[in-house]
Amino acid sequence: MKRTQLAPRGPEFSRMVYGTWRLLDTKPSAQEINRRLNDCLELGITTIDTAEIYGLYEVEKLLGAALGLSPGLRDKLQIITKAGIYVPCAYHPDRRTAHYNATGPRLIKSLEKSLRFLGTDHVDLFLVHRPDWLTRAEDTAAGLNDLVRSGKVRAAGVSNYNVSQLDLLNTKMEQPLVTNQIEFHLLRPEPIHDGTLHQCENLGILPMAWSPLAGGRLFDPNNPAAARLATAAKNMSPRYHGATLEQLAYAWILAHPSHPLPVIGTNKLERLRSAAQADDIVLEREDWYGLWEAAQGRRIP
Ligand SMILES: NC(=O)c1ccc[n+]([C@@H]2O[C@H](COP(=O)([O-])OP(=O)(O)OC[C@H]3O[C@@H](n4cnc5c(N)ncnc54)[C@H](OP(=O)(O)O)[C@@H]3O)[C@@H](O)[C@H]2O)c1
Repeated sequence: MKRTQLAPRGPEFSRMVYGTWRLLDTKPSAQEINRRLNDCLELGITTIDTAEIYGLYEVEKLLGAALGLSPGLRDKLQIITKAGIYVPCAYHPDRRTAHYNATGPRLIKSLEKSLRFLGTDHVDLFLVHRPDWLTRAEDTAAGLNDLVRSGKVRAAGVSNYNVSQLDLLNTKMEQPLVTNQIEFHLLRPEPIHDGTLHQCENLGILPMAWSPLAGGRLFDPNNPAAARLATAAKNMSPRYHGATLEQLAYAWILAHPSHPLPVIGTNKLERLRSAAQADDIVLEREDWYGLWEAAQGRRIP
C-alpha cells in the first residue's frame, strides 16, 4: 500500500483508509476489532477513520478497547475522528432534535471525550463532521486552532463542506485545513463538477472519499446503474488481471487527479484484502470514462 501526504505540512497516511462507521454491524468483540486493526496494518492500511457519533457514540469505545489489548498498536496507526453531529439516543436522552454544533467549545468537549474513549492523548486528524449552519467560521476555527496548538489534534480538516464553506473557515485557521472528506464514488460523481475536488487541487490538499462503493449500492441487482457497471467491469477485468467491480471502483476514485483517499467500509477481511490490491490498478483513460458511462447510462456530452 502506497503512502501519501495529505497537505504540504499535513500528516502522512496510507493511500487507503479503513472506516469504522459500520463496525458494530456484526457485533464484534474488542478482540475481533484488535485482529481487524492488525489485519489492516499487515495490508499497509495504517490510517483509521472514526467519528464521535459512529454506532450512536459506541464505536470509539470499542476501538479504544481494541487498541488497549496490544500495547504499541495505537502508535502504529494514524487515527482520524470527527465531531459536530448530535442526535437524541439512549446515551443522550436530554437531546430533543438531531442537530449540528461546530462551535469551538463543543468541538473541544467532543474531541476530549473521543481521546478518553480511544485511550490516546492525540488524534492525527480531527474533522468537523458536517458544516453547522448556525455557527460563524471564527467560532469553529477558534476551537480547531486551540486543539492543534495543544497537540491533542495533529491536523484539522472538514467533512461534507462545500467550496465556500471550506474557503471561509480556512481564512480563520492558523494552520490551513488539510482535507475535505466527501461522498465521492461512481454513483456520486458530482464533486468532479461542483468545484469540491478542484478546490482541493488548488489548495494542495488531498480529499478523502467516503462510501467508495456507494455503501454497497454498487452491487444492488435492482439498481440499473449497478447492473450496467457489473457488465462493464466484467468486460474490463481481463485488462486488469481479473480485477473485480469493487477493485475497479476504488481504482476509479484513485485515478482522479485530485488523488482522493478512499475510506473503505467493509467488515469482511477478504474484501479488505481485495480493496488493498486496488491501490496497484492504474485505469486506462478509456476505461475510466467507460465506468463513468456505465454508471450514468449515457455517453459523455
Ligand atoms: N464523513 C462522513 O460524513 C462519512 C459518511 C459516511 C461514511 N464515512 C466513512 O466512510 C467509511 C466507508 O463508508 P461505507 O461503509 O459506506 O463504505 P462502502 O465501502 O461504500 O460500503 C460498505 C458497505 O458495502 C458493502 N459491500 C462491500 N463490498 C460489497 C460487495 N462486493 N457486495 C455487496 N456489498 C458489499 C459492505 O458490506 P460488508 O461489510 O459485508 O463487506 C458494507 O456494508 C465509513 O466507515 C466512515 O469511516 C464518512
